[in-house]
Amino acid sequence: MIGKAMQDTINEQINKELFSSYLYLSMAAYFEDKSLPGFAHWMRMQEAEEREHAMKFYDFLLERGGKVMLKAIDAPKTEWTSTMEVMQEVAEHEAKVTASIYALYELALKEKDYPAQMMLQWFITEQVEEEKNAAEIIASLKMIEAHETAVLQLDHRLGKRGGD
Ligand code: FEO
Repeated sequence: MIGKAMQDTINEQINKELFSSYLYLSMAAYFEDKSLPGFAHWMRMQEAEEREHAMKFYDFLLERGGKVMLKAIDAPKTEWTSTMEVMQEVAEHEAKVTASIYALYELALKEKDYPAQMMLQWFITEQVEEEKNAAEIIASLKMIEAHETAVLQLDHRLGKRGGD
């Protein structure tokens, strides 16, 4: 049977994963509105993954004789100023999720909860992937921005052409 501290913290983590799902669903709607269906698709896939994460914790609690206690999910933002801002928020959000997974792992070590440690190792690996995915998209967006800056510089230079 799972201990009370682990049970409570896993219930909080279920809420965090469901909030992540809500956040990405809101970002998907933002991208649909901006006529960026590829980004919207990526966000919908991300949203589905977050529900799977929540369910992994949910099933783990039930398997261990714990009690699932769902809490209210905060409303996510609905507006962003740019694609870059959205992706930077994804990266920051995933870094926070990683920190909470590490805190859960530390609790599992302290409580000598070996099954929880095994389960959390999957999440530790998953978070490496999640952070990498966001960083790669940000790197691509930066390259696009750099390209646009270079085109503007060229435009400026071409604008100085004098008559022969
Ligand atoms: Fe469930 Fe994106 O971490």
